[in-house]
Amino acid sequence: MRTLTIISIVLFIAACSANKVAAPSKADVEKEGEEFAELAPSELASGKELYVANCGKCHAHKEVSDYTKEEWEKIMPNMVQKANGKGSNLGATDEHALLRYAVAMSK
Ligand code: HEC
Repeated sequence: MRTLTIISIVLFIAACSANKVAAPSKADVEKEGEEFAELAPSELASGKELYVANCGKCHAHKEVSDYTKEEWEKIMPNMVQKANGKGSNLGATDEHALLRYAVAMSK
């Protein structure tokens, strides 16, 4: 049931996104489900939105799946700081959501 909910949300996000930033596939979501047992689907959705809104200001949106989970854990805090230096206002919750999205999509 929970998986179904996650999948519908992901499909909804995929349908709504008018840009080229990758939306999590069913397999990505399941992978992350194992990684973060307490996954809140809404957090994954907001992670992608935050990524789209904040992570294309200086460089094109990086291909999330080009990096491993370990790389994202190092890169994300750095980039959240950079984004905040350029007009974003990302807090700890946002950073967590961004990291979850990136890890769900990681190599
Ligand atoms: C203030 C400008 C700025 C913002 C905003 C920004 N970045 Fe970056 N980012 C950089 C710079 C500078 C580099 C290093 C040069 C490059 O690879 O383009 C970089 C590099 C990267 C890399 C490659 C890192 C590596 O080690 O190969 C990734 C991935 C990345 N950014 C992700 C993000 C994400 C995710 C966000 C949103 C949270 C973001 N960036 C927002 C400036 C920014």
